[in-house]
Amino acid sequence: MNSPEKEFLVKSEWVSASNIALVKYWGKHGNQLPANSSLSMTLKNSVTRTIVRLVDSKIQPKTQFFFEGLAAPDFEPKIETFLSQIIRFFPFLKNYSLVIESWNTFPHSAGIASSASAMSALALCVSSISGEMQPGGDNSKIFSRRASEIARLGSGSASRSVFGGFSVWGKTSFVAGSSDEWAVPLDFNVNPVFSEMQDSILIVSSAKKKISSTAGHHLMNAHPYAEQRYRLAEKNMGLILNALKSGNVADFIRVTENEALGLHSLMMSSDPGFMLMEPGTLQIINKIRDYRERTGAFLCFTLDAGPNVHLLYPASEKENVKDFINGELLEHCERGKVLWDEMGSGPVRIA
Ligand code: PMV
Repeated sequence: MNSPEKEFLVKSEWVSASNIALVKYWGKHGNQLPANSSLSMTLKNSVTRTIVRLVDSKIQPKTQFFFEGLAAPDFEPKIETFLSQIIRFFPFLKNYSLVIESWNTFPHSAGIASSASAMSALALCVSSISGEMQPGGDNSKIFSRRASEIARLGSGSASRSVFGGFSVWGKTSFVAGSSDEWAVPLDFNVNPVFSEMQDSILIVSSAKKKISSTAGHHLMNAHPYAEQRYRLAEKNMGLILNALKSGNVADFIRVTENEALGLHSLMMSSDPGFMLMEPGTLQIINKIRDYRERTGAFLCFTLDAGPNVHLLYPASEKENVKDFINGELLEHCERGKVLWDEMGSGPVRIA
């Protein structure tokens, strides 16, 4: 039988969003442990919806994956590897198979990473199923921490998507309770200037990346600037946390843009070096800096491991920034494509 509707014992459904890192995770060791701590903002509109059904493995011996309504066996080996990693947390999985269905709100080839939303949604579904198999075991704090740890094993950045707002993954002296194993939400309220941050993602190219993040992380092992990078990341973490607390917009912009350009300079200075920015990326960055100088507006950019530019600004700048994007930046975007997103409040379980 090849249908997701087969007989199941327990079912769980979650919607979880992607996130954008402001302090970047780049470099890892051991079992998906980060070389430095990172801080990100969870998004609202770029989400994955996932349904997992638990099926007796005597009825169905293997995990099945359906993406946007169609069987997607190409993803199954990756999911099997992930499941073999998490079996130590969920021994009951030995006797069951999963039927997994997933949908993204953003186009698959939009040029934005889907691993954070996809792996966090899957981790949350499996964690909920585990809760139903052993009712009464988990309180909500332990549930989120465990789900974040499991998401991390699928994709490092996914650990942060288990929380809304801003979250930190990786041990840092600035956040009590921070850990390399899971992410934590901030333990203070951010200054209101940052409470409704917008993220307009300017799609310069939706082409598949030339180098995967896994390969990029790996190149940090022999990187001549690695130690300086990890020290700088810790310093930037301290600065941005202070900025988020105090409302220091200038420091927020300085650290966010330094981290974005720093990430890409690490890529270029790896051996072999590689470049993910495109001419349009640089044109957009220059225009954003020009516009800020001209108008004094609070807006800044960050970059993921790709050519697309995340334009960050508070809700109060929305109308002006929309005009700026439409008037000056769309010409650098692939078919004028922009994904309009903003800070979100974290994953939601669908009853
Ligand atoms: O989670 P991964 O392995 O896809 O790596 C993410 C790396 C960056 O997106 C560049 C930075 C980050 O912290 O999200």
